[in-house]
Amino acid sequence: MDTRGGFSSRLGFILAAAGSAVGLGNIWGFPTQVASNGGGAFVLVYIFLTFLLAYPVLMAELIIGRSAQSNIVTALEKISDSQTSFYPTFTKKISRGVGFWGVLTASLILSFYAIVAGWMIAFALAPIANLLNMPYLADWLTSFSVSRNLLFCILFYLLTISIVQKGVRAGIERWSRRLMPILLLMIIVLIAYVATLEGAMAGWSLYLKPDFSRVFAPELLISAMGQAFFSLSLGVGTMLIYGSYISKKENLPVLGVAVTFVDIGIAILAGLLIIPAMFVAEHNGVEIYTKTGQLLSEDTLLFSVLPALFSSMDLIGYFVAIIFFMLMTIAALTSSISMLEVPVALAVERHNTARKKATWIIGLIIFIVSICIIYNFGALFGLIITITTKYSEPLIGLLLCVFVGWVWRRDLLLKELKQGFNHAETSIFWLIWPFYVRFICPLIITVVFYNSIM
Ligand code: PHE
Repeated sequence: MDTRGGFSSRLGFILAAAGSAVGLGNIWGFPTQVASNGGGAFVLVYIFLTFLLAYPVLMAELIIGRSAQSNIVTALEKISDSQTSFYPTFTKKISRGVGFWGVLTASLILSFYAIVAGWMIAFALAPIANLLNMPYLADWLTSFSVSRNLLFCILFYLLTISIVQKGVRAGIERWSRRLMPILLLMIIVLIAYVATLEGAMAGWSLYLKPDFSRVFAPELLISAMGQAFFSLSLGVGTMLIYGSYISKKENLPVLGVAVTFVDIGIAILAGLLIIPAMFVAEHNGVEIYTKTGQLLSEDTLLFSVLPALFSSMDLIGYFVAIIFFMLMTIAALTSSISMLEVPVALAVERHNTARKKATWIIGLIIFIVSICIIYNFGALFGLIITITTKYSEPLIGLLLCVFVGWVWRRDLLLKELKQGFNHAETSIFWLIWPFYVRFICPLIITVVFYNSIM
């Protein structure tokens, strides 16, 4: 344990894991989905599915990680070693394959995430350029170009690498502890400010009055499920490796609940910021509906509606814009470090590479993938997002459930859970969860997966 490093305390883990979970998915993806899926109804379905599906998978990752004390590849191999299946070598090969697939997915997610995060830095600097009376610079910062995308992508990689190379406690945990409270503070300040502006109330009511007729719409269910998965950083070995850094004294189901609550909480707060902000923008004359009457969402929401709102707000708009895009940058950074940790931990543990060297080399390789995306943006960007978040993450999540539910010996699983949770055997968690990951989760994920490809 000492040679691998680990989180110094319960809070250290919660902040780091919540830092991983809270990212562009919460502050951009969630409000966007709320806007395009009927407001509050989406929020309710999302909360429900997070506990029904994402929390059990999160627990699977945390328990596998802490038991194996290793990266996803080695961890899955260890689990298949411990079992008494009919085809041990076959299972072992599969476990290695699934592990590497997770590492590849985490790396590919980082390759597009870093580009988007770079835009956030550029958008945070643009108001400063305007304040300094450099409109051309501001224009370059907010316009799509290869040069801008490359420069800010590099900058974001340098930030990510410089944290990960320092290791779990001095890098990941320290920076999550610093950045997460700032993030929370920024969101609350912005919500309070936007709530005072004219037009905000219409946003609050869309958000808080669910349109129940839409709760069972299939598109809404599918989007909410995907969102819950991506948002909790599941299916790529991130939560697994963070789980491996948790002390054996900790009660895992409780930690999992804490992380889930923070993730949902920040997503809901982000909605309370962005949806009212859209209606303030409308009040100020900004177009917020598409021609078909849908609320604008995705990139138009973030990169045109909100900047238009900020610039309609006079001087204070500059500061609101700076704080908003810094908030996005921080959220992205505490997530990107957790993505990079997945391949770095693999290199350090399996190939005995020094952490610093591993971080730089792997960071460079993933950056090269980002360069390819930047130069072939139209062809690759959307494609890689779809492959990783829509297909890979749920499928690997499903396979992790199969490992815990079907491959891992039940007594060994219980033994791990009991560490830090003496009464595990007689708890509600143990009554429901093993059955859940064995049958229900694989079933639900299969249904969703089937629907999303059809
Ligand atoms: N959970 C992060 C977000 O909401 C994204 C992420 C996915 C992070 C996979 C790590 C691994 O933005």
